[in-house]
Formats: sequence, C-alpha cells, structure tokens
Amino acid sequence: MSVPTLEDLEASLGGLDGKRILVRCDFNVPLDDGRIVDDLRIRSALPTLHWLTERGAVVTAMSHLGRPKGPDPAFSLEPVMHRLAELAPGVALLENLRFDPGETKDDPATVARLVEGQDGYVNDAFRASHRAHASIVGPPRTLPSAAGRLLAKEVEVLLGVRNDPKRPFVAVLGGAKVSDKLGVIDALLDVVDTLIVGGGMCFTFFAAQGKPIGASLVEEDQIDTCRELLERTDAIHLPSDITALGPGGKIKDPEAGGDVRQLGTSIPDGWMGLDIGPGTAAEFTDIIRDARTVLWNGPMGLFEDPRFAAGTRTVAEAVAETRAFTVVGGGDSAAALAQFGLEKDVDHLSTGGGASLELLEQGDLPGLEALRSAPNA
Ligand code: 3PG
Repeated sequence: MSVPTLEDLEASLGGLDGKRILVRCDFNVPLDDGRIVDDLRIRSALPTLHWLTERGAVVTAMSHLGRPKGPDPAFSLEPVMHRLAELAPGVALLENLRFDPGETKDDPATVARLVEGQDGYVNDAFRASHRAHASIVGPPRTLPSAAGRLLAKEVEVLLGVRNDPKRPFVAVLGGAKVSDKLGVIDALLDVVDTLIVGGGMCFTFFAAQGKPIGASLVEEDQIDTCRELLERTDAIHLPSDITALGPGGKIKDPEAGGDVRQLGTSIPDGWMGLDIGPGTAAEFTDIIRDARTVLWNGPMGLFEDPRFAAGTRTVAEAVAETRAFTVVGGGDSAAALAQFGLEKDVDHLSTGGGASLELLEQGDLPGLEALRSAPNA
C-alpha cells in the first residue's frame, strides 16, 4: 500500500538541486469578494514546498479552485498566488487547473502540457486525490513521483485506523444525510466495535425501526437500506432521546418562537428533531471515553443554532478528553471543534471531506494508485 515518499523521489532523481518539481496542492480556499477567508490550505502545503525548495528544487505548484466550467476570472488563483509568494517565495503557481476542460477528463494533451519540462511530481492534494483528474493521475505515468507530507500523513493515519485500530474502535457518524455516509457505514461496520449514529441521519434509522419521526429530516429511499444495516449488526448505537423544535419554530431563528423540548425517540407530528438529547450525549460520552480509537465524522445536530449545539459540543468534548487515538474528519466536525475551541485536542484533524470518506470506504484512492504505479515506485 505504500506510496513513494519525498525521500524516495530525491533518491531516484539523484538529488533535487536544480530539478524541476511539479506539486499538486489543494488551494481550493474559501474566497469572499476575491479575498482569502482562511489560508489554512495554503499553510498546510508549506512543509512539502519548503522541504523541496530547501534542497534547491525549482517548484511549480498547481491547484484547482471551485468548479468553473472553463476560464472564469471569478475562479482565478491570483489571490492564492499573492499569499503563496509571502509564505513560500520562489514557488511558482499555475492558473486554476479547471480552466482547462481536459483537467477533469484526464485528457492526455492536458497531462502532456503539465509535465513538459518537469523532472518530478509530488501530490500533496489529499482532498482532491479521490478525483481521477489529469493533475492527480496523469504526471505519475511518466514522472518519478512522491506523496507530499500532508498526503502521506493522511494516508498513514486513516489507513492505520481502518486496517489496524486499537480496540475498542468507535466510529461516531453524524450529519444530515445518511446517503452521503452509507458506503463508509458499510465499510466501517466490518471493523468497528461500535458505530454511533447521531445528527439528522438518525431519523432515517428511526423510520426504519418504524418509529414516528414527526417533521424530522428523512431520506425515504434509504429506509430499507438502514433497516438492512440494523438487521445485519447490533454494533449500531442510535440516540435514546432527542432535542426537538415544536410547530411554528424556525431553525437558526430563536426569535420566531416554537417550543424546544427533550423527547424520547418517538417524535410527534409537527416536531422536528434537531439534536441528540442529554441522555444520549451522556451515553455517547461513556462509549467514547472507554474507546482506544475514535473516528468522528459529522455533527450530532444543528450546532450552528445554539438551541441545538449541546449534543455536538458534548461529543466534541468527549473526543477531546478521551485517552483514545482520535481522528476527526469532515468540514462540519472540524468547524464544530473550532467553534468550541477544541481543535488542538484531537490527534488527527483530517483535511479531507469526500477523500477521507472514500479512503475509509475503499481503502484506496485514484491518486494513491497513480503514485504506486509511478516509474520510481
Ligand atoms: C474540496 O474542497 O473538497 C477539494 O478541493 C475537492 O474539490 P472538488 O469536490 O470540487 O473536487
């Protein structure tokens, strides 16, 4: 499963001084009116970029930004170019890869343009490595290649958890949609000791158990699948109480009125479950405390609304405090940790959304396969 490292690349090129290295980064940063809102994705690439430039490599970085259908100034990487020039002087940056329609199609002509004049390739774009795009899978067909530090760390941690976890291994899954997580639930059920389900997706499981769910979120077309999962295993742990908003209430608008109550797991007509209840939060805390490995992906409720933040906060605190090795993935869980000031208290905060779920689900990614087939691998 191992992919070539930066050291492997250095050895295969006989040193990096003066060598031209093409580095795929994920600089898909949030922008507001052309200004970078959060430069974390640029800073995350620095260990790899600095390692290469310190050894004398001539580095050209490349990334996508957003999902433009062709050249579009609104998706220009120019703001990133300026920030990168401050953080990693001397590193060049190509314009948004997706301005070329050949990028998403892995077009050979696009790949040929990218690799022209380059001596080696590094993929440090973990978040984009589930995409079989030209800049991810193309260069390793011809260039000696390596995984950058960020990519290598993600793979080591996520595959370590998936393939050889310390037990008990507890996965905590939340978020609105069960359909986004079915693949990963299916894969994790083969390896976890307990799979905790919270967030909006628990109501589709409740529906599968024949419970009334009121006006809560449900994916009708997933009810049968959830029923099959519940029949297949007793490792799935569902909430035993729910915090719900009564008729007339509006989410994210406490002024609009509407009762907020703790209910059991039968939600009356017109009521909408929006968080796990305090009893459930305490049960989940106990399970997380006794675990040796915890993987958390997805909030337990609508934590952006203070009336429904308690469940996610309690789980975040339990994840921060447990002695277990803790891995948190997905933008929403990371945002929740940041909201509660706990992001420094987990062992690994994955940068990958779709990529981390796909790696956990499949055990591999197109970008990793490509690195393993590189000429120097
Ligand atoms: C991300 O933001 O998750 C990555 O940059 C991938 O972006 P994409 O979903 O547009 O391929």
